[in-house]
Amino acid sequence: MLGVFDSGFGGLTVLKPIHERLPRLSTIYLGDNARAPYGVRSQEEIFHFTLQGVRFLFEAGCPLVILACNTASSQALRKIQQEILPREFPDRRVLGVIRPAAEYLAENSRRVGILATPATVSSQAYVHELQKLCPDMLVSQLACPGLTDLIESGRQDTPECKQLIARFAQELLAKDQMMEQVLLACTHYPLVWLPFRKAIPGVIDVLSQGDLVARSLKAYLLRHPEIDGQLEKKSQKTFFTTQDQYISKLASMFYGSTIEFQKA
Ligand code: DGL
Repeated sequence: MLGVFDSGFGGLTVLKPIHERLPRLSTIYLGDNARAPYGVRSQEEIFHFTLQGVRFLFEAGCPLVILACNTASSQALRKIQQEILPREFPDRRVLGVIRPAAEYLAENSRRVGILATPATVSSQAYVHELQKLCPDMLVSQLACPGLTDLIESGRQDTPECKQLIARFAQELLAKDQMMEQVLLACTHYPLVWLPFRKAIPGVIDVLSQGDLVARSLKAYLLRHPEIDGQLEKKSQKTFFTTQDQYISKLASMFYGSTIEFQKA
């Protein structure tokens, strides 16, 4: 089974396109809703919580886990790949969401904007990844504190949230008016794609990353038949949350159709 992890519901916006592109794949989703948002936490905390999530999914039988969370990918992925896997789980793999998005951006322009959580922005992960792919890439980043909280709690349509989005869009544009692409680099943000789209001039592409990650996963599995062969293909979908009480209705909004969670 493929494991998919996020701090909360955001990873469901990545899981949905994975199910669309790889419909036979059985998946286990874990949302650490009880401790979301991660984006305002320290690197140590994000690493520790992410590792707990990965261990849970490994124990549940996943040979491959996707960190469907930019914050966890930027603050914990490298350490898990370089220090934890070789020592404890040499046959398992963990992948993130930053590289696939960066590859798409670098293929399509040299001037991009990144909207993300404070932790993702301060890690500079996108800047490093993009400039590794394209040394002359111009990257403008903006941290969007408070936005994940509003979306995670289902308040994305409130005037408060709309005002915040308009302000973040203005602040990013003030850094660079000539960007060609803006990435919503938090897996919660696809739920507010439309207000961002409206606040950013039409000549600039506004992208969500879910399908970019799904496409890249499909290519990865073709290149790695030894991992693909270990993944169950029974279209079974299991959803876990660390929250005591969760709102399935809210989760279904992120996923796009009805889903039921179990307590992890
Ligand atoms: N959905 C997440 C991301 O992609 C995490 C947001 C958070 O927990 O702050 O960054």
